[in-house]
Amino acid sequence: MSATASSQDHKTILVLNGPNLNLLGRREPDIYGHETLRDIEEKTRERAKQFNLDVIFRQSNHEGELIDWIHEAGFAPKSRVKGIILNAGALTHSSIALADALSAVKLPCVEVHLSNIFKRESFRHHSYLSPVVIGMITGFGAFGYVLAIEALAYHLNHKQSSS
Ligand code: DQA
Repeated sequence: MSATASSQDHKTILVLNGPNLNLLGRREPDIYGHETLRDIEEKTRERAKQFNLDVIFRQSNHEGELIDWIHEAGFAPKSRVKGIILNAGALTHSSIALADALSAVKLPCVEVHLSNIFKRESFRHHSYLSPVVIGMITGFGAFGYVLAIEALAYHLNHKQSSS
């Protein structure tokens, strides 16, 4: 970073968490682990800092609120969001509206799941989001968010140097 660089120069990553993820730590820990969403937020911020990325970390149980945040990231005039990490919870398997919002904003998005959705019930095997994201990280627990930061950082740098 140059001496004059400030957080003004940092790119921002929006990390969105969908329904029931506020219960992490208490919710089926055999599947989702013992870490809370706050623990995951800390890990995510720590890794992002190493790439000079700022993080906006949010959770909602409401589909519309998640969609509003995606719109804001993509279209608000002052938005500095350059990429999205999304664990949409069960909305992954049902929400065409979330997929449409991601398509509309055209920001690179990494889909994250704590559990390996392909090892679970068949209704979890289909994601409406996968066709509109750059990739999916599934089954690595909380570490998946750290991997998603690395994937987005790589993607953003790669895009910059190749454009
Ligand atoms: C999840 C997987 C979804 O199938 C489930 O509905 C969730 C969490 C995961 O992180 O493993 O709420 O997205």
